[in-house]
Amino acid sequence: MAQPYPHCFLEGRQQALADARISPLDRSFLFGDGVYEVIPVYDGRLFRFAAHAERLARSLAALQMIDPYSREQWRQILEDLVTVNGGGDQSVYVQVSRGHEAGRNHILPLKLTPTVFAYCAPWPTTDSAVLRDGVRCITLQDTRWARCDIKSVALLANILLRQQATEAGATEAILLRDGRLTEGSASTVHVVLDGEIITPPNSHRILPGTTRGVVIDCADALKLAHRTAEVSESQLRSADEIWLASATREVQAVTLLDNQPVGTGQPGALWQRVYARYQTYKRES
Ligand code: PDD
Repeated sequence: MAQPYPHCFLEGRQQALADARISPLDRSFLFGDGVYEVIPVYDGRLFRFAAHAERLARSLAALQMIDPYSREQWRQILEDLVTVNGGGDQSVYVQVSRGHEAGRNHILPLKLTPTVFAYCAPWPTTDSAVLRDGVRCITLQDTRWARCDIKSVALLANILLRQQATEAGATEAILLRDGRLTEGSASTVHVVLDGEIITPPNSHRILPGTTRGVVIDCADALKLAHRTAEVSESQLRSADEIWLASATREVQAVTLLDNQPVGTGQPGALWQRVYARYQTYKRES
């Protein structure tokens, strides 16, 4: 993984990431009491900023926290950070935790100053082998909590699931709950069945992905059929194509699921078109 860029945002100002410090009593450290976003930056511009800001606001509201900044203040803070780190293509991580108090307190404390932290990293360019051959995934039971719609920093279940996938030689764990597809450990999953792109509906079981919106916009531009519907395990296993979508993966084709080829075992025709459209779209918007 590439080293982050040197400047971060903490305590209301830009500072050197190497010198940035927070209290060990910060509630994100003690309880995972915080939320985050990962925003792509193309040509120095925040991609889909509004969707990320909206989701951040929703996550904060779910934690009964007040959004510390207005939409325009957020934009300015993050744009300035991207600029000082050299612009171009990057990813921005932003985290808001409830802040710190005198000690551990299971009751939500009132009036804490939130800890706002942001840093930038070089854009994780997708490997050419991934584009040529697609990626390998395994299925696992979704062992996460019942509010996966909140983009919480408490990601232990996601991390353990991803680790299991990594140890099996796979790039991602595709999760099943009650016999239905939910999502990946850190991605939205789309399937293609009979020429139609199908994505599970947003609910407490999945994170409402911002890249999902990009995929749908690309599908619309290409006049491809798509809909939101539950996907059973057998539909997942018989899908002609399976795609992973996230801010940093963009859209990738899954070509091997539990060691079985997906469709032809090569990135599918619809993925090729959506991926190509995505590459143009991200530079245009
Ligand atoms: N994760 N579902 C989960 C559980 C995720 O963690 C993510 C993204 C997504 C896709 O959301 P988006 O399209 O807005 O990136 C779905 C980010 C990239 C991460 O944790 O690094």
